Amino acid sequence: MPDVGPESIVRLEAGAVVLLDQRRLPDEEVELRCESAAEVAEAIRTLAVRGAPSIGIAAAYGYALAAELGENLDAAYRVLADARPTAVNLVWALEQMRSDPSGEPSAERARALHEEEVARCRRMAAHAVVLFGPETRALTHCNAGGLATGGYGSAVGALRAAWEDGLIAHVWVDETRPLLQGSRLTAWELEALGVPHAVIADSAAAHLMSRGEVDCVVTGADRIAANGDSANKIGTYGLAVVAAHHRIPFYVVAPTSTIDATTATGAGIPIEERDGAEITSRFAARNPAFDVTPAELIGAIVTEEGVHRAPYIESLPRAVHA
Ligand code: MRU
Repeated sequence: MPDVGPESIVRLEAGAVVLLDQRRLPDEEVELRCESAAEVAEAIRTLAVRGAPSIGIAAAYGYALAAELGENLDAAYRVLADARPTAVNLVWALEQMRSDPSGEPSAERARALHEEEVARCRRMAAHAVVLFGPETRALTHCNAGGLATGGYGSAVGALRAAWEDGLIAHVWVDETRPLLQGSRLTAWELEALGVPHAVIADSAAAHLMSRGEVDCVVTGADRIAANGDSANKIGTYGLAVVAAHHRIPFYVVAPTSTIDATTATGAGIPIEERDGAEITSRFAARNPAFDVTPAELIGAIVTEEGVHRAPYIESLPRAVHA
């Protein structure tokens, strides 16, 4: 029975940020010690820690560690901020740390930020249950569970709460190529929670939708633009298009720390291009890691503030980035 409590996912100890190496899951539960801001940035870049809120939390801890170790804080900020481009939580968390009233990025502020993200997940889940009817067969993509949010989970948190309310019959889990966050991480978390699920090839989702075996699609997000366009793991946009074709509701569950009011539409969201070797080292390959689902394909966006409906330019909370 894995322990995916907040402290085991990522924490700050004296002289190091310690995280559960998500590249080794589910077969091995191995901790990685990062003893500088640059090592934390490398852990983010190589997906030892991943998922938008967890990336932000790890960066906050890395920045606090840099202050503790007397590193050059501007250099630490830069190396962390440049680790990955799409998840807005990364820079959001660093800015939260930089605006710490103590003038220094503190361990206390980083721990508080971590606790706040987990609290947001629980509030999102409580709001999201209204979206699920009895005997729901949901489909999810990538991993938006406790591993991705520093604890509890966003989309997987919503599925967990709906399951606990007796509303979930089954969850289809896209394996999520090329790095298999679904078949390695989401399946592992759902197994631990006792939620009935089955892993599917990403390319099987459309077939199951066409056969009426999917009642809704629920995913997380890495950056939500002011108009509601949402970036998430590559493959999410395709799911939204097929879901719309079959009139299946498509929902996004993400904290306000993922809403980027400074980016007007999805066209402004930077999309990470990763090494083609993650797909094949035998032939030339192109490997965009995220795509953007336009707001018009999203039935609802759930944040800790509530369930938001289109037009999102009016309904989405504006707190964080303004
Ligand atoms: O490349 P990853 O594994 O960091 O991508 C993660 C996702 O796309 C998640 O769905 C998203 O970050 C939401 S996590 C709550």
